[in-house]
Amino acid sequence: MFQYHCLNNISKIGLQRFDEKYTETDNAANADAILVRSAKMHDMELADKLLAVARAGAGVNNIPLDKCADRGIVVFNTPGANANAVKELVLASMLLASRDIIGGVEWVKENAADPEVGKLAEKAKSKFAGNEIAGKKLGIIGLGAIGQLVANAATHLGMEVYGYDPFISVDAAWNLSRSIHHIQDVNDIYKNCDFITVHVPALDSTKGMISKEAINMMKDGVVLMNYARDVLVDEDALVEALKAGKVKKYMTDFANPTVVNVPNVIITPHLGASTEEAEDNCAEMAVKQIRDFLENGNIKNS
Ligand code: MLT
Repeated sequence: MFQYHCLNNISKIGLQRFDEKYTETDNAANADAILVRSAKMHDMELADKLLAVARAGAGVNNIPLDKCADRGIVVFNTPGANANAVKELVLASMLLASRDIIGGVEWVKENAADPEVGKLAEKAKSKFAGNEIAGKKLGIIGLGAIGQLVANAATHLGMEVYGYDPFISVDAAWNLSRSIHHIQDVNDIYKNCDFITVHVPALDSTKGMISKEAINMMKDGVVLMNYARDVLVDEDALVEALKAGKVKKYMTDFANPTVVNVPNVIITPHLGASTEEAEDNCAEMAVKQIRDFLENGNIKNS
């Protein structure tokens, strides 16, 4: 018999993949395995008997990895399981940055009580004119599961796609090279693209990579999208660039005090992976990993 503990809400559908050999415990101290989504995991949750932690998501920056390594606790994540959900939010954000859908919807709400609202709308609509994304250049930094899906979708929407990833596999690079420009120097993305989106993990080497220098290289009026991790962007430099009009819009999933009240910043509350489908996929993959490890000793991160 094994016991598992969920540190935050994990999809019930996913948890149904545990069979009768497993019971859920409310107490982390009794757990053989812990499932966690975005909650920060503390050292005290690493109980003596703990054998495995599964992060139902891609990023593992909420897990004390060094402590787990010292203790021989195996840490899994669920690469790709929520990639489609993030891709769809990135596409929506590009469209929101290009068309004033939010402004238009607010205008209709504000004028809804006016019996002439339909007529007024015809007059007001010129205020909300936007641009199309077809024909624009999209730069994708990081061509993992999410970056690749964004690349394919944006190509189908008629965008010219440039991708940068020094660690991409040969196969993935070959498949993508038929539809996107594979860039060797990230500065070429900064200098040439109308939209830039980052899809890299938060590592010492990537923190602050969207720096003042990087932003200064960007085209005037660039739209920057960050649905990966807040620490990738130097937010002070970004705010300066937004105020100067250098960056036209910052679309992000991270509601940090530095950016929340700045005009032309559109923020969602870390919704990238928040779809029923993605939550089920991540939980199912996490349960499979834990079972395969506890029952068969297999360590397979997929
Ligand atoms: C991820 O790293 O995959 C996301 O942060 C997942 C989530 O929102 O839970």
